Amino acid sequence: MDERPARALPVPKAVLFDAYGTLFDVYSVALLAEQLYPGHGERIARGWRDKQIEYTRLVTMSGGDGRHYRPFWELTRAALHYALRLEGLQPAAADFDRLLNQYHHLSAFPENREVLQALRARGVRAGVLSNGDPAMLAVAVKSAGMAELLDPVLSVDAVRRYKTDPAAYALGPQALGLAAREILFVSSNGWDAVGATWYGYTTLWVNRAGAPPEQLGTEPTRTGRSLRDVLDFFPAAAPP
Ligand code: LAC
Repeated sequence: MDERPARALPVPKAVLFDAYGTLFDVYSVALLAEQLYPGHGERIARGWRDKQIEYTRLVTMSGGDGRHYRPFWELTRAALHYALRLEGLQPAAADFDRLLNQYHHLSAFPENREVLQALRARGVRAGVLSNGDPAMLAVAVKSAGMAELLDPVLSVDAVRRYKTDPAAYALGPQALGLAAREILFVSSNGWDAVGATWYGYTTLWVNRAGAPPEQLGTEPTRTGRSLRDVLDFFPAAAPP
């Protein structure tokens, strides 16, 4: 962890996690992609993710009334088609479906449960605020065995606008009845951490990949390397 010491910050009243990339490893699909298309796995995984996020921005920015909105699952499917074409691949329908369905079973990062349990032990409410549509999120959270540790699970589908639209970030304070600054928003996506900081959240960027910070003159409240860094925001429970 770097930047300001945790002690100098007011203790947040709740935590909201981004889902894809933060709780679930979006690049874990590379393994199956590599099995199906040797030599292409990493590039498929990266191209798929990049195009998926690009599409969220495209549909959100192209009409204020959400008329181009499509649920994240549809954008994920479209992005996979694109990523495979970019590699010059013509997938058999069964292979395509196998790869797409991996998105329902993304690996969860190993420290997730322990961190969520520690938050619960400290009496801190922890939920999700994600671009994922409700069905995708429900399957992913359940399949990672975290359903009883995450509440609420908020999807931008409710406002038909993807992050970093303010209407998407507004779902957190609305659902929790807290001011944005009282909520710790945690994302491993640098752009999401910046968007949430601009919105007014207290933020932690979990820089799992060791990426350079966004060069826009805004820094998240803190930067860490794993979900465990969330716990530094919360004093350990006093001994009985
Ligand atoms: C999400 C994407 C941004 O879960 O990873 O919202």
